Amino acid sequence: MRLILFGPPGAGKGTQAKLMIEAFGLPHISTGDILRSEVKNNTELGKKAKAYMESGKLVPDTLVTEMVKSRLSSSDVKNGFILDGFPRTEGQARSLDNILPGGIDRAIYLETSEDVVVQRLTGRRVCPKCGTNYHLKNMPPKKDMICDQCQVGLYQRPDDNEATVKNRLHVYLQESEGVLGYYRVQGKLENVSGDLDSKDVFSVIQKIISSLK
Ligand code: AP5
Ligand code: MG
Ligand code: ZN
Repeated sequence: MRLILFGPPGAGKGTQAKLMIEAFGLPHISTGDILRSEVKNNTELGKKAKAYMESGKLVPDTLVTEMVKSRLSSSDVKNGFILDGFPRTEGQARSLDNILPGGIDRAIYLETSEDVVVQRLTGRRVCPKCGTNYHLKNMPPKKDMICDQCQVGLYQRPDDNEATVKNRLHVYLQESEGVLGYYRVQGKLENVSGDLDSKDVFSVIQKIISSLK
């Protein structure tokens, strides 16, 4: 199964992907996570991507598409995958169809209101070791600011401050919403309300996946 998780920043793509990995065992490809690790390791790609990411802009299509193409050539994605955060422009969507003969199976759109995503992003805290997303109010860790599994301190993403969050939302509306039309005309778009509780969002996603089997 080739699935895309699409939606505005903070819609819950990473959170749902984690539940989907546990339930379906599909590999998770998050372009945001790959780029953050490139930045952390100070690679050539990381050096180019850093300023775009910190200001909330998109990293240029050519760089991200090459990165995804290389990831999709690995043998572990032969039986399917969950792509999170890619494609984010119509150009990326077209490139993906060129990379994958037959294209994707479904694009799951987590439709989420603006006030909800701002609240989620400004309260998000992340485990530096396992990448689990927590939220100060919605999904707090058991111990204050410590990952439940890894027992290490949580951090705040540098692009989760209020000014950069606003910019990311603006960029999403300008550059990414066109991806919806691209998959709608292919009959592959599934709308899911991202405003719901995480377990309710997940049960809708489970129904979609069951209908594909
Ligand atoms: P990326 O890392 O993909 O960021 P994003 O799209 O802005 O999405 P987020 O990761 O912020 O949100 P999410 O939807 O995963 O939400 P989460 O589950 O964490 O990209 C970062 C940057 O990299 C981009 O700005 C760009 O520069 C670059 N980039 C990446 N891909 C690119 C591409 N294809 N092209 C060009 N550039 C690219 O949830 C958020 C919070 O809410 C958490 O705290 C969580 O605990 C909480 N939460 C989640 N679900 C719920 C719920 N249902 N109810 C209550 N709380 C919830
Ligand atoms: Mg994410
Ligand atoms: Zn952890």
